[in-house]
Amino acid sequence: MTSGFRARRHAAPTIEPVRSRPRRVAVAGVALLGLVLAGCANKGPESTFRPEGKYAQKIDNLARPWFYIAGVVGLLVFGVVVYIIFKYRARAGDERVPRQLHGNTPLEIMWTAAPAVLLTVMAYFTVTTVISVNKTAKSPMVIEVYGQQWWWEYDYTGPYAGIVTATDLVIPAKTEIQLKISSRDVVHSYWLPRLNGKRDAVPGRTQPMNIEADTPGVYMGQCTEFCGLSHANMRERVIVLSEADFATWAANQLKPAAAPTDAAAVRGAQSFAQRCSSCHQINGSYVDAAGKTVQFAPVDASVSLVSGVAPNLTHLMSRGVFAGGTYDLHVDGDPAKPLNRPDLEAWLRNPSSRKPMAPDERRGMPNLGLTESQIDDLIAYLSTLK
Ligand code: CUA
Repeated sequence: MTSGFRARRHAAPTIEPVRSRPRRVAVAGVALLGLVLAGCANKGPESTFRPEGKYAQKIDNLARPWFYIAGVVGLLVFGVVVYIIFKYRARAGDERVPRQLHGNTPLEIMWTAAPAVLLTVMAYFTVTTVISVNKTAKSPMVIEVYGQQWWWEYDYTGPYAGIVTATDLVIPAKTEIQLKISSRDVVHSYWLPRLNGKRDAVPGRTQPMNIEADTPGVYMGQCTEFCGLSHANMRERVIVLSEADFATWAANQLKPAAAPTDAAAVRGAQSFAQRCSSCHQINGSYVDAAGKTVQFAPVDASVSLVSGVAPNLTHLMSRGVFAGGTYDLHVDGDPAKPLNRPDLEAWLRNPSSRKPMAPDERRGMPNLGLTESQIDDLIAYLSTLK
């Protein structure tokens, strides 16, 4: 037994196939290429290469030519470097010191002047584009944008004052919009790659950003400043409607929520008044247990939320998504399609299990410990908030 053990112990180690160096370099190269190409998408929803509207077009007009020029310069420089590395490499057995050169006035003038000229031209076009993109239109529709942990609120102004939405920003096509971007807690960054660039959302400051879209559709964006637990779940959707559709949408948004009449929805509204209305505003009324029609009181959520504001749910069902855009509220994020009930139920059962939040620190929605029948009643009520 012992000798057998020894024999095994002293057996020659199995020889693992050694991969050749060029092969390893090739494998690493392919892996790197795959990684880099994974960032490419022809029709990505957040591609800056599909500009929409004049502001994004101006940025594209600046970026595209310089992208090509920089590409050509880059290829030239890399090409020359690689060529020289190979041509003048040290060869085995050749100990000679290469001929030493110093100073070539025409070359030095050229490689100082050429980049200086290129950068000056680039700076001119960059500055004029920045000025032009930030020029305020004559009478834009002004919408206030508030970032908070972890969703975006839109407060409309002027003739649309009173409209408040969350995550979904609805605007008419072919209309100048000025967003006034701010934050209610930490620094966020508002980014709409297909409509304009980025703006930091800084508490105590208001930073304007212009957008305008010619084609109705949905344009995606997201928070691009790390802002805590659910930074990744802080999305933006700009829904561009035709001018007529926008007028219909806006007229509906300005209406208060009517008190529900269906039995389950009535119970749901009472449950909402008890458990939800200290944070979530409903502009409207419900019928209480005594049969009396009561208005939902204005929310003062400063006691229960760091930011002081939870999404206004008066017209919840006109939105496509919820929870900062983490889940579809309706199938495909389209309010015209059926309710995505499974995700809404799961959210009401335990919000933090569906999106990282810190309700104990007054950031995000707490687990309300709802029973299944309370959840059914609440959804019956929420479904009336068209
Ligand atoms: Cu808000 Cu990241």
